[in-house]
Amino acid sequence: MTVTTDSGAPTGASPAAHVPDALDAARATETLPVPETLPVPEAAQVTETAPEITREAAPEGAPSGAPLAPPRLAERARELARNWPEWLHRVRLDPQGRWYQRLHQDAEHEIWVISWLPGQSTGFHDHGDSAGAFAVALGTLEEDRVRAVRSLGVGEARSFGPDYVHDVRNTSDAPAVSVHVYSPPLSSMRRYDLDAEGRLVELASESAEDW
Ligand SMILES: [Fe+2]
Repeated sequence: MTVTTDSGAPTGASPAAHVPDALDAARATETLPVPETLPVPEAAQVTETAPEITREAAPEGAPSGAPLAPPRLAERARELARNWPEWLHRVRLDPQGRWYQRLHQDAEHEIWVISWLPGQSTGFHDHGDSAGAFAVALGTLEEDRVRAVRSLGVGEARSFGPDYVHDVRNTSDAPAVSVHVYSPPLSSMRRYDLDAEGRLVELASESAEDW
């Protein structure tokens, strides 16, 4: 899914240097070892709330239930990404596919954190009527907009309005973690593929009940 501008505030350090030991230990090898501190998720470990983040999730000055504009979503995503030491303990790595967890949801927005092992990707998708933003907390991600591909490092973010289509993926050789904010909360998504001419072809539609 989904935590999808806006340049952020690069730290000046390389992404690799910013990755803590727990993630650095999971750098891609032939066996993609998952460190004990970032175990493969178990059902009991995946919860729907994150009190320590929820407490500070409501943006100041925003009326309850009012959709947030993309720049505000990017600001929020970057803020959360910058504060990764506060929530990294929640993150898991899943060799079977991207791991994700919703950290917060209210009437106006929702927040997800996603971990990406090397090679994991979303595929082309939109976000229905929701606007959104995502920021890279650890590692590096690549965003494909069909006609343009952009790499995002630590602290960088992208924001977008409704009907925005992209494919986000980890093409690096190290794990990555990102924060995604959507407003209003995601209610539907469509998945796409590219035809022989490079045009988007809709494959499927999903609703909130599917994730
Ligand atoms: Fe997305």
